[in-house]
Amino acid sequence: DWILTGKEFVDKNDLSYPFEERGLQFGDGVYEVIRIYEGEYYLIDEHVERLYRSAAAIKIDVPFQKQELYAHLHELLNKNSVRNDATMYLQLTRGSAPRDHAFPLNTEANLYAYVKDFARDTDSLEEGASAITMEDIRWEWCYIKSLNLLPNVLAKQNAKELGAKEAILHKDGMVTEGSSSNIYLVREGKVYTHPATKRILGGCVRMKIEEFCKEADIPFIEEAFRMEDFEGADEVFMTSSTSEVQPLTKVDEVTIGKGRPGPVTRKLQAAYEKDAG
Ligand code: PDD
Repeated sequence: DWILTGKEFVDKNDLSYPFEERGLQFGDGVYEVIRIYEGEYYLIDEHVERLYRSAAAIKIDVPFQKQELYAHLHELLNKNSVRNDATMYLQLTRGSAPRDHAFPLNTEANLYAYVKDFARDTDSLEEGASAITMEDIRWEWCYIKSLNLLPNVLAKQNAKELGAKEAILHKDGMVTEGSSSNIYLVREGKVYTHPATKRILGGCVRMKIEEFCKEADIPFIEEAFRMEDFEGADEVFMTSSTSEVQPLTKVDEVTIGKGRPGPVTRKLQAAYEKDAG
């Protein structure tokens, strides 16, 4: 297994991660997870653009021109002979330097990227899954895909312990997003989701959902909905690079619609599969 570190490829077994690494010590960095279908990146432009936006937001200079980064990411797939379904994880940190909260001087950002096999959760995409809800205790800059994921980790673990697939987060009674996904509610044929403000991560799949809705004449309404709205929802679903378009048929104790994935979700799943395939 080859890992991209900076501009070089290193065998996984020869990789050492510096102890005084700002990603490790401060979570001082950003990341991306890109889906790979049959050996090809899906939505790579959207992810690369977001990586540069996230890095700029926390004043990290990406040590690559975009074209150079694309070349390295494609080389990563070639070197690992990736032909199947996988995910690529990329992490960019402010670099390695003696520990001090303030930015180090003359330190280059560190980039790591590797590929991991990934299987679709076909059963839950077909059947739907359940979600729980939790207060969104994260910071105000959730639009940055930051390495600081402790609230997300704790929320997902809570969901898992309660037998649910996702934790839906809410702030002041309004649904923001999931612990690692965007959340949508369908009512009377319209799709509602939190606007892409600083309070959520604007998902790459979310951008596609907007496009698929336009193509299918489904109103896509960027308006936050309230926790109580789950009661009268026809459908609920979540999206992310790993979970795709995942129907949610139960939220806490509320059964959504008929307790089965609904027609709007199905239409968007089909559009996704066509686009990604
Ligand atoms: N997470 N919101 C949050 C908080 C996320 O962590 C993610 C993705 C999304 C969806 O983004 P996208 O559609 O670009 O994948 C929304 C990735 C998959 C992760 O952390 O593993």
